[in-house]
Amino acid sequence: MKTFFMIKPDGVQRNLVGEIISRVEAKGFSITKITMMTISKELAEKHYGEHKDKPFFNDLVSFIISGPVVAMQVEGENVVTQIRNLMGATNPSESTPGSIRGDLATELDKNVVHGSDSDESAERELSLFFG
Ligand code: RTP
Ligand code: MG
Repeated sequence: MKTFFMIKPDGVQRNLVGEIISRVEAKGFSITKITMMTISKELAEKHYGEHKDKPFFNDLVSFIISGPVVAMQVEGENVVTQIRNLMGATNPSESTPGSIRGDLATELDKNVVHGSDSDESAERELSLFFG
């Protein structure tokens, strides 16, 4: 099984790439594709298309294109669900200590990581980023 996982611009800017990748690898998953890139506005709007009618959409897109990200394909058993568990809740105020967001983030709009939320999203996002 495969998922799309990304370290957002705040995580890269804070030099958390190694820390976050270590957690994914230590859990037992394999990173099978990886690239550092600055996302175009067009790609960001497609990636977050499900949120296009939300009031936070423009801020979300501006943030995700604000600096380089590290985009990955991650493989392993039940990886979509298990990566979401490693990430913790969307809002760092609610994510448990021990999770990536619980340990490394404080703000909803700077929550350091993205992970696909279903097998369908994983397939869509992997094809957007890795073709
Ligand atoms: P992500 O897509 O980034 O992995 O996050 P997620 O699945 O945990 O959460 P999602 O609902 O997809 O929201 C995407 C990102 O939008 C920001 N957000 N802001 N102001 C708000 O109410 C609000 N809600 C969500 C968060 O940064 C979230 O990661
Ligand atoms: Mg999401």
